[in-house]
Amino acid sequence: MKIVLIGYMGSGKSTVGKKLAEVLGIPFMDLDTEIEKQTNTSISEIFSKKGEIYFRRIESEVLKKLLSQSESYVLATGGGTPCYGDNMAFMTKADLMTIYLKTPLDVLTSRLFLEKESRPLLAHLKTRDDLNDFLRKHLFERVYYYNQSKYVVETIPENIEETVEKIVLKLF
Ligand code: S3P
Repeated sequence: MKIVLIGYMGSGKSTVGKKLAEVLGIPFMDLDTEIEKQTNTSISEIFSKKGEIYFRRIESEVLKKLLSQSESYVLATGGGTPCYGDNMAFMTKADLMTIYLKTPLDVLTSRLFLEKESRPLLAHLKTRDDLNDFLRKHLFERVYYYNQSKYVVETIPENIEETVEKIVLKLF
């Protein structure tokens, strides 16, 4: 069983992914963490020192390497992963269960406002309204890719267990 979680920053891919992997008894992998391990550099540092284009190239390489593993896994991708290069086409072709974790804009805004400093694409946004406007437009562009996932699961804010249960019901 190869499960790939897709969705915007702050949609809970890593938190839900860890719990889902635990319930299914299979390994959990996080694409950003793997990129950091393989480059020995934090995501923020990659963005600031080498730029986004470089990050997207490494992201695609590490993604394809992780997906090619033969064992079962739950993989949490980054919010931009499906939207660049042939990543989404690659994930739809392969024998994978792609799941889009759909989270309302206001929930994303509240969560991301608290942690925007650590996110290279959001750190420049000053107020909650600026962030909300940016997210609305960005999400609109990205949803085209997210919706190519095999399944769409609406996340239940602050209830990881219930979100995991909804995913498990789709799988069996
Ligand atoms: C990004 C999302 C981040 C990380 C990078 C770029 C994006 O991952 O890959 O900062 O383009 O949405 P998370 O969605 O895990 O925060």
